Amino acid sequence: MSSKEIFEERRSINFFDSKKNLEDNLLKDIINRAVLAPSAFNLQPWEIIAVKSKEAKDKLYKLSSNQPKVLEAPVTLIILGDKNGYDKSNPIWDIFLKNFDGDEEKLANTQGFAYSLYGTSEERKLKFAESNAALLAMSIMYAAKSFGVDSHPMSGIDFDGIKKEFHLDDNKTVVMTIALGYLEESKTLYPRAYRKNYEEIVKEL
Ligand SMILES: Cc1cc2nc3c(=O)[nH]c(=O)nc-3n(C[C@H](O)[C@H](O)[C@H](O)COP(=O)(O)O)c2cc1C
Repeated sequence: MSSKEIFEERRSINFFDSKKNLEDNLLKDIINRAVLAPSAFNLQPWEIIAVKSKEAKDKLYKLSSNQPKVLEAPVTLIILGDKNGYDKSNPIWDIFLKNFDGDEEKLANTQGFAYSLYGTSEERKLKFAESNAALLAMSIMYAAKSFGVDSHPMSGIDFDGIKKEFHLDDNKTVVMTIALGYLEESKTLYPRAYRKNYEEIVKEL
């Protein structure tokens, strides 16, 4: 599939074929392609919960304004941002240390810089977690399309409820959910909705 086709053919599909499974290996391929998304310092402050079981789907459905796609799609991903993803506990820093030839001082300086950018207020922490994880989310939808898999992002969800019911720790923020699967063939999608264009959204200075 060309990148043009991926962009033009990705749609938020409302009707998933509940009889069509998404193979585990295919889900892995999608995620492992999507993680090529960029992130600040390459810290990748994100995690994903793949909701597949009936029990977990039922729970998520109630926390998703009863949107039927959560029950119909074979899997719905909960995309999480890690508000502490800049701090020393992130194993990505070990790779930094290796790349710095073991120079601990250089590592500490870089970590200090990351802290100054992303860790000094709740607002910065949240922005860091959500902006990076949202890029992963978009990357997942395009990666899915590149493998012929349809998707639907959702933020019509109970963010706090999901955090509570899925026992997420306080440093995690629920960014959105993404249903993945295949269009129910008997359904037709609405035509693509109008998009604002360059003249409408770009201010040249
Ligand atoms: C962050 C985000 C949250 C969304 N939440 C919902 C949702 O909860 N329910 C829904 O039906 N559509 C949701 N949508 C889908 C949008 O309505 C859809 O992307 C938009 O109408 C454009 O359609 P397209 O994706 O097919 O181009 C969401 C989209 C995004 C990006």
